[in-house]
Amino acid sequence: MPPPVRPLAALSAAVLVALASAAAALAQGTRGGFAPLEPQSTGAERIDDLYWFLVAITTFVLLLVMVPLLVFVVRFRSRGRPRTVEGPQIRGNTAYEIAWTLVPVALVALTVGFTIYKVPGIVDPSPGEEQTVVRVEGRQFYWQFEYENGVIAIDRLRLPVGRTTLLRLTAPDGDVIHSFWAPALMGKQDTIPGQLTRLRIEPTREGTYRLFCGEFCGIQHTAMRGEVEVLSQQEFEQWLEQERRTQEEQPISLGGAIWTGVCAKCHDPELDLGPPLEGNPILNDPRAVELVVRRGRGAMPGVGQRWSEEQMEALQVFLETTLAPRREEDGDDGDG
Ligand code: CUA
Repeated sequence: MPPPVRPLAALSAAVLVALASAAAALAQGTRGGFAPLEPQSTGAERIDDLYWFLVAITTFVLLLVMVPLLVFVVRFRSRGRPRTVEGPQIRGNTAYEIAWTLVPVALVALTVGFTIYKVPGIVDPSPGEEQTVVRVEGRQFYWQFEYENGVIAIDRLRLPVGRTTLLRLTAPDGDVIHSFWAPALMGKQDTIPGQLTRLRIEPTREGTYRLFCGEFCGIQHTAMRGEVEVLSQQEFEQWLEQERRTQEEQPISLGGAIWTGVCAKCHDPELDLGPPLEGNPILNDPRAVELVVRRGRGAMPGVGQRWSEEQMEALQVFLETTLAPRREEDGDDGDG
């Protein structure tokens, strides 16, 4: 005698688990669980529209299959008949056959059509308009942002609200692939060594949004986090001009940002990754430091490959003033 089959029990359990997890997710609010973050750019809004459209279509298909299935399982159960009894022999049904051909075709056409309608606004929110341009480099293990006036920022991208910024993304040769991902603002875009990719973002609301690296890129991949700060257009212009002057007149400020965003991610003594640098005699030898920073050594990647002279100097100034061991000849007021 074959073992007892309990399809109804198994199916009910599966449906209950699915409903419970969906309810738990929805209970967290409209934007929790499996829902994407509240969109904060025109592109993210369109991605969000596509997401909910696809959720609607797939939910419809799920119900279209599951509801009749459950009804049939209950209604046409065996009711104690022997398992070997044949059911009624049915051949063809023109109406059903037309329906199950046309409905899937219509669903696919809807999905493709809606996507084709939405995608251009994601790729370029304001075609033909002048755009702020920022060069983005994904590097082991930090983000470098370069503005058109020469300002450099590490791990913190500032953007103007209500205007499209064109991000030109890449990674240096010899680095690896990273992926620029600010979930509230846009989908991901890879940064690929030796190639240029593009992302256009038109933020709709001021605020600070999280930035991640969406591609596993090495031991400190999780440290490759940053922020995108969306400012009013006026604040943005002011910041850009102010920052240009600061970086020209006080390179140590950029040096400090480089230290925190680039060096400390591995050389923080608490991490036990790279050797601690405080008091290291190499810091008094700018040429040795430059060589290691540009080319890397051992497990350390060449984090400063392609840095400008100014950027390298900014780091040197910071290292010499804060971490390098005091030189003997610095003490003029000693017994000499
Ligand atoms: Cu860069 Cu992960």
